[in-house]
Amino acid sequence: MKKEEFVMEKIISLCKRRGFIFQGSEIYGGLAGTWDYGPYGVSLRNTIKQLWWKRFVDDRMDIFGVDAAILMNQNVWKASGHVGGFSDPLVEDLKTKKRFRADHLLEEQGIDPKGMTLAQMDALIKEKKLKSPDGNMLGDVRQFNMMFKTHVGAIQDDSSISYLRPETAQGMFVNFKNILDTFHPKLPFGIAQIGKAFRNEIAPRDFIFRLRELEQMEIEYFVDPRDEKKVKETFDALYEEQVAFLNDLGLTHEKIHKVEIAEADRAHYSKRSVDTEFDFPFGQKELLGLAYRTDYDLKAHTEKSGVDLSYFDEETRSRFIPHCIEPTFGVDRITLAILADAYREDELGGEKREYLKLSPKVAPILVAVFPLLKNKPVLVDKAKEVYADLKKVFGAKVSFDDNGNIGKRYRRQDEIGTPYCVTIDFDTVEKEAGVTVRDRDTGEQERVMMKDLVAKLV
Ligand code: GAP
Repeated sequence: MKKEEFVMEKIISLCKRRGFIFQGSEIYGGLAGTWDYGPYGVSLRNTIKQLWWKRFVDDRMDIFGVDAAILMNQNVWKASGHVGGFSDPLVEDLKTKKRFRADHLLEEQGIDPKGMTLAQMDALIKEKKLKSPDGNMLGDVRQFNMMFKTHVGAIQDDSSISYLRPETAQGMFVNFKNILDTFHPKLPFGIAQIGKAFRNEIAPRDFIFRLRELEQMEIEYFVDPRDEKKVKETFDALYEEQVAFLNDLGLTHEKIHKVEIAEADRAHYSKRSVDTEFDFPFGQKELLGLAYRTDYDLKAHTEKSGVDLSYFDEETRSRFIPHCIEPTFGVDRITLAILADAYREDELGGEKREYLKLSPKVAPILVAVFPLLKNKPVLVDKAKEVYADLKKVFGAKVSFDDNGNIGKRYRRQDEIGTPYCVTIDFDTVEKEAGVTVRDRDTGEQERVMMKDLVAKLV
């Protein structure tokens, strides 16, 4: 096993052992491309989503939040171009019938497939006589549409077709007029949404990196296209905002990379795309996206629906279709980036340990409170009192643990990334000498008086 695969195995194992992430439908052998989040995973993701919503919606006057339905009229996806063009290059093992991403097979051979057409990939696979990972002949490379199709209602015919949305973005475009008519915003303004999206990925892989059920946080930011300089400035400013958000989560800045995407590799709606890539244990890969979608979507929906999605500019008394710049964030990829970035192995007090060096801002538990001994009611009662007091300030980010010896409790908290452990001992109750506060990273303990405790933890 390669070193980076080994690290991923350890992260996956820690996530399961400590209640962050479990395999989807595990007792039935799983369902590829799906994972379930346990209590600490939910907490981490909720924090990511809350910080995002606060930064991009609550703290701004120009961005409006919505929560659109996942199932949408099939015409939305015809107009958006997803029925026709939301596909990946697929190639089939002729013996086992297993399906693979043609571009991934080329990448594994050290060939960069960026910018290649379907025909070029097909020709190259044939020329190099590439085999499937199981050693069998491969068929022709063809497009595979990644949308999950379903039927709405009791009758299954063409008119009842719907899709699980492959991006949250369209929920914002179809509500563009509703926001205009109810809030009367002036350009530039944005519409934001957090929600699940679904993609029938040919080859889900790398834990929660490439999923079939994923969550996105997206903004469709509408601008006046007539001032090209301003459009470019807005695009660049939104990129900086994306990076600032990642910094705020505590991700290592040097692992974040800006990548300008060549025309051939951009999505069908994009005139310019800049990806934010991150150094994951399995390589530098896309974490976030930023696309200049122009008037592609509003124009397409105006044409298909017959509803005018233009904007009237009071100042110049003119009407036009705004252009859209889209910053997009994947909740699962950010979760993985945080976990992988925080994963550490070291030796503390002569013992090997694994731990998560999470920023206090995102750690599921900020502080764990322990009585030194479980069988001494005087310590347990005092610990419960301290726990209740801290909960008033830090809410669900405080936990209580009296299970096992103190060393084991520290290790457990280290593994879930808890920055501080507070222990109530005999000096706390008999001498009113405060509590001990242990630091996760150094293992060092410090006595802190009760009145100073909250300030020590913020
Ligand atoms: N609305 C634009 C859009 O959906 P995208 O680059 O296809 O653009 C946006 O996806 C983000 O969603 C990506 O940057 C990534 O964070 C996340 N994402 C996309 N596909 C994913 C998958 N299969 N599993 C997990 N996250 C995914």
